[in-house]
Amino acid sequence: MCTKKKREMRLGLINLMICVFLVTSNLGLTVALTNNSSQIKNICEFPAIFNFGDSNSDTGGLTAVYGQALPPNGQTFFGKPVGRFCDGRLVIDFVAESLGLPYLSAYLDSIGSNFSHGANFATAGSTIRPQNTTITQSGYSPISLDIQYAEYYKFYKESQVVRNQGGVFEELLPKEGYFTRALYTFDIGQNDITAGYKLNLTTEQVKASIPDIINQFAKVVRGVYAQGGRSFWIHNTGPLGCLPYMLDHFLLTAAQVDEFGCASPLNEVSQYYNSQLEDIVTQLRRDLPLASITFVDIYSIKLKLITQAKRHGFEKPLVACCGIGGKYNFNNTMRCGSTEIVNGKEILVAKSCDNPSKRIIWDGIHYTEAANKWIVDQIMKDSSYTNPSIPLEMACQKLN
Ligand SMILES: *[C@@H]1O[C@H](CO)[C@@H](O)[C@H](O)[C@H]1NC(C)=O
Ligand SMILES: *[C@@H]1O[C@H](CO)[C@@H](O)[C@H](O)[C@H]1NC(C)=O
Ligand SMILES: *[C@@H]1O[C@H](CO)[C@@H](O)[C@H](O)[C@H]1NC(C)=O
Ligand SMILES: *[C@@H]1O[C@H](CO)[C@@H](O)[C@H](O)[C@H]1NC(C)=O
Repeated sequence: MCTKKKREMRLGLINLMICVFLVTSNLGLTVALTNNSSQIKNICEFPAIFNFGDSNSDTGGLTAVYGQALPPNGQTFFGKPVGRFCDGRLVIDFVAESLGLPYLSAYLDSIGSNFSHGANFATAGSTIRPQNTTITQSGYSPISLDIQYAEYYKFYKESQVVRNQGGVFEELLPKEGYFTRALYTFDIGQNDITAGYKLNLTTEQVKASIPDIINQFAKVVRGVYAQGGRSFWIHNTGPLGCLPYMLDHFLLTAAQVDEFGCASPLNEVSQYYNSQLEDIVTQLRRDLPLASITFVDIYSIKLKLITQAKRHGFEKPLVACCGIGGKYNFNNTMRCGSTEIVNGKEILVAKSCDNPSKRIIWDGIHYTEAANKWIVDQIMKDSSYTNPSIPLEMACQKLN
């Protein structure tokens, strides 16, 4: 599982020369929203969600194969580890809640899964591009986005046949028509950037790999569209340079650290990726005339939370809640949930902080439930974070 996966980055950072600012466009659509999400009419009435991604949205895919996440993962909401690398709910869980849908079962999870309202193809450590398994003892998931698409394709083709057998299958699989009316969500790309560094590429080389990464991403969106998918909700990637696992493993010069303590070259690479992602989304809207594609600026929301932590009721924005030691409470060989044998007894060494609800970063890599909730609240109440400016509940509407 995640703790055993060595995603360490042994590399020196090369200066970045180009800084591309993230552009969010606003179509000026005025939508009346109340603070109470339950009062918003679910205009689209999405009957299902199909999600593609990495650990930011994995609800049990990786752990279905490699073993359950360690405690204290899951402690805040579920009371036990439930396949999420978080103390509680993820952004995708809050998205499902706000659409009135159940939490998504992981496609790979054979125990207790219920796909009547969607499936989650995300696995922790997933990249968009396939990883070279010869050299990747790297900790990246073998379930890259192309594999997630293959899983989705099989599920789409075969679930209706099985559903028609009736009985329990009728209750566990999506109804006919759900695939077209569903919301297709994507949150992936972060690991493609770190994978480049893992191969000792320079920042310029990592940036040079991004167009191919983006093209591979677009291929999957086109594939889902070809199967009848129409509503897409695409998250950009967060500020990589503000995460403890990155800060811990790069040797940063003073000039590479911004006023908030984040690694600016890494944030610039994230922004570079995001600007190309937004460009391809624009292209996809032209190429896929029946699709509604919403681009969600997760980067700006997460950066706002980290850089204005106190104002929003959070503390220690760059320090992991669950972990042990070092400036960021993160030790790559002793990640959240790590134990030690002391006097013949196994004791939890890398444990949770006292108050995860006041913290942003959970384990040095992932966000806390409190942060995830805050992030979704921003999306729900400020439609300027989405392009087009549209609430989640209306993301089936074609505005561009
Ligand atoms: C994977 O990496 C190994 C070792 O560097 C290399 O020999 C091989 O050609 C690579 N395979 C692919 C498909 O790139
Ligand atoms: C599957 O989930 C749906 C929706 O939550 C529920 O109505 C149904 O009873 C569940 N089926 C089983 C067998 O648990
Ligand atoms: C990257 O560099 C490190 C340190 O020099 C080295 O140990 C590692 O094998 C290199 N990785 C690759 C994939 O070349
Ligand atoms: C991280 O944990 C390992 C294993 O316990 C330990 O040897 C090492 O000193 C720790 N590193 C730091 C910076 O504390």
